[in-house]
Amino acid sequence: MKTNDIGLEIKDSKNLVKTLNKLLANYQVYYQNLRNFHWNVSGPNFFELHAKFEELYTTANAQVDEVAERILTLGERPYSSYGEYIENSGIKEAKEVHDAKKMVEIVRENLNHLLNLERKTLEEASANGDEGTVTLMSDYITAKEKVVWMLSAYLK
Ligand SMILES: [Fe+2]
Repeated sequence: MKTNDIGLEIKDSKNLVKTLNKLLANYQVYYQNLRNFHWNVSGPNFFELHAKFEELYTTANAQVDEVAERILTLGERPYSSYGEYIENSGIKEAKEVHDAKKMVEIVRENLNHLLNLERKTLEEASANGDEGTVTLMSDYITAKEKVVWMLSAYLK
């Protein structure tokens, strides 16, 4: 069995990185959607949503970096170009969204998309005995589920 620098089987890590790279691509589009909404939101909830979108993209920014560096830790290459992100993201770029409530709905949808990918990543990592990735995904999932709850409460 051939192992990488951290002692995990190379074949397993390569397979896992396919999912992690997909997660990374989706994360980048999610991040840019949040920046879009932060800039373009308007109306009576401007101040709270402008700040909330910033808080969420700041978190996403840090997580994008963690996912990319986890891929490098596993001995593989993270997708690093806009082209790769767009090509591999299931989350679509938000373009002409004007309604503030619609923006929150899109963020919630995007989060659910990321959650599904994170659960899949966790399962695959767990099968590989890759505890580092399992823990990372586990933390992301818990935090995202809480954000989804808060966004749902907001939308009621
Ligand atoms: Fe700003």
